[in-house]
Amino acid sequence: MNDRARVVVFTCNWSGYSGLEAAGGARLGFPASVFPLRVTCLGRLSSGVILKAFEKGAAGVLLLGCPPGECHYQFGNHRAEEVLAEARQLAGLLGYRREQLKLDWVDAGDGEAFVTKVRDFIAGLNGK
Ligand code: FES
Repeated sequence: MNDRARVVVFTCNWSGYSGLEAAGGARLGFPASVFPLRVTCLGRLSSGVILKAFEKGAAGVLLLGCPPGECHYQFGNHRAEEVLAEARQLAGLLGYRREQLKLDWVDAGDGEAFVTKVRDFIAGLNGK
C-alpha cells in the first residue's frame, strides 16, 4: 500500500472532528486519499458500516473519537471498542490484516495529534 491507498477516518462529532477542524485551520496536511466521515459519536457505528468501507475499497479504516471518559454520550467510546472487536473479527475472516482497522482517541482541538495519528495509521498500513 502507498500514500494513495484510500483510508476512511470516522470521526465523532466532538473531539475527533474538532481535531480535524484544528488540523485544517493550522493547514496541517495529510494525504488526499484520506476520507474523513463524521458521525455523531463513535458509539453510533456498527461493524457493518465499518466493513462496508472495506467493501467499497478502503485499504484501512481508522476511528478517531473522544478519549476514554470524555465521550459526550458517556459510553460511546466504550461501545466503539466493542464494535471494533467485532469488526476486527469479521474483517479477519475476510482476509483483512489487524493493522487495517484501528480505534484511537484525539483530544478536542488537537490538530497535530489528529494528523499524526492519521499519518501513523497509513505508515502502519505500509508496514513502516
Ligand atoms: Fe466522541 Fe462519543 S462523542 S466518542
